Amino acid sequence: MDSSDDEGEEYLFKVVIIGDSAVGKSNLLSRYARNEFNMHSKATIGVEFQTQSMEIDGKEVKAQIWDTAGQERFRAVTSAYYRGAVGALIVYDISRGTTFDSVSRWLEELNTHSETTVARMLVGNKCDLDNIRGVSVEDGKKLAEKNGLFFMETSALDSTNVKMAFEMVIKEIY
Ligand code: GTP
Ligand code: MG
Repeated sequence: MDSSDDEGEEYLFKVVIIGDSAVGKSNLLSRYARNEFNMHSKATIGVEFQTQSMEIDGKEVKAQIWDTAGQERFRAVTSAYYRGAVGALIVYDISRGTTFDSVSRWLEELNTHSETTVARMLVGNKCDLDNIRGVSVEDGKKLAEKNGLFFMETSALDSTNVKMAFEMVIKEIY
């Protein structure tokens, strides 16, 4: 293979995950980055992040994915969390309507702190809990459309669409 001028070039994108407490943000990230799921995970305190690589058009693209507490009292400085983010996943739990009602508040916060996010996805997590669903797929889609977001239902438990959701956001940024 001949070596191109771009060889060795790397891309690093910051992506943030937001949404109410216990919607599954940390488990979505651990499923994506390490293929791990924790049935008894503790609420996140402060901020954590993972770097994950993927290949797009033969180039290595790295995403630094940030995860913070949904609970106000455990959150770190908000502006620092959003600074430089180019992608965002706004997560709710399809079995709890209150977490869906909070989405507009999370979007407001995102708009206030981050004008740089170009790729945004609304994520209805826990789609394995279809039997106790509280938010219809249709309502999820509608809200996403209204706000210019991608939309996907995921399950960190059984892995449905987890990789797809992160990679759609990362590809859109790239
Ligand atoms: P905070 O850190 O407090 O903001 O919560 P979080 O959004 O990070 O939630 P977390 O990932 O800790 O998950 C909360 C609970 O939901 C845990 O008991 C998880 O095992 C469970 N959970 C996460 N994702 C799924 C899922 O896709 N399906 C089901 N059934 N449970 C899930
Ligand atoms: Mg968490």
